[in-house]
Formats: sequence, C-alpha cells, structure tokens
Amino acid sequence: MNVAEIFEKMINYSDHNLHDIAHLTKVWAYAKTIGELEQVDENTQFILEVAAIVHDIACPLCREKYGNTAGTYQEKEGMPLTYEFLQDTDCSEQQIQRIAYLVGHHHTFTHIDGLDYQILVEADFLVNADESHYDVKTRNAFYQKVFRTKAGKQLFKDMYESENQ
Ligand SMILES: [Fe+2]
Repeated sequence: MNVAEIFEKMINYSDHNLHDIAHLTKVWAYAKTIGELEQVDENTQFILEVAAIVHDIACPLCREKYGNTAGTYQEKEGMPLTYEFLQDTDCSEQQIQRIAYLVGHHHTFTHIDGLDYQILVEADFLVNADESHYDVKTRNAFYQKVFRTKAGKQLFKDMYESENQ
C-alpha cells in the first residue's frame, strides 16, 4: 500500500471519530512537510508519514480502558495495535518495526534516535499546542527542549511566534 491507501485505511479504522481524523491529518501534513523540507531519504519519509498517520492509534482503546489518553498508556498499547494494523499493508517487517517503535515512543522526548522520530514529535507538538491551547510558556519550553529541525523550527515560529511577544 502507498501512503494514501494507508491514510484511507486509518480513516476507516477511526470509526467516524472526526476529532481523531482531523488530528492525524494535521500531524501527517506537518510531518510530510518537514520531512520534505529536510530532504530525508525516501524510506525515512515513508516511515515518518505512516507513523504520523497511525501515531494515535491507541487513543480509542485508552479512552475505553483507562478513561484517558495519557502518553504512557498510549505508548504501552500503541505498539501491538500498530503491528496488527499494518499487517496487510505490505510494509516490510523492518518498516513495521520502526513505525511501531515510533508510535510506542512518541510521548518520550529524552531519547530521540532518528530524524523520523524527531520530526514526528515536532509535528505532533505543532498540532497539540493549538488543539490543547498550550500557553506561551509551555510552548516555548517545549520548543527549546525538543525542536531541532530547521523546518520544524520555522513552522513553529510561523505559527506561534507573534503570540510569543
Ligand atoms: Fe498526536
């Protein structure tokens, strides 16, 4: 399957939850954009985009099982769900492993071990800062701590800087 087919599969999987669908669509758009601007290689770009599309796959289950979507729950539940979801997409075993790893670690900001991981957390933050109405201090602290790519930093500034003044 190509990225568009996996995106369609994820929308179907999201079972009419328009909030989840809007969220993953925005994160995918930023991840794709940052990846392209940073000129990551083709395989990394594919892994990044698919990871962005499926990164919150555990949210519905976490809401049901724990009553919330805290990062630790998502990380625990996300990896097996990702494996299952990607089984019939003809991604390679290596790609599935990396995508599942990213899904399982996207709320951990201390051991970012690749550009795919780095860009995914930047893209997710660009969306969450808006959706969750993070205040200026929270936004700037995260920016300083986590943002590394030139393109991600630029998007952050374009989106939030005037509000930082
Ligand atoms: Fe997210």
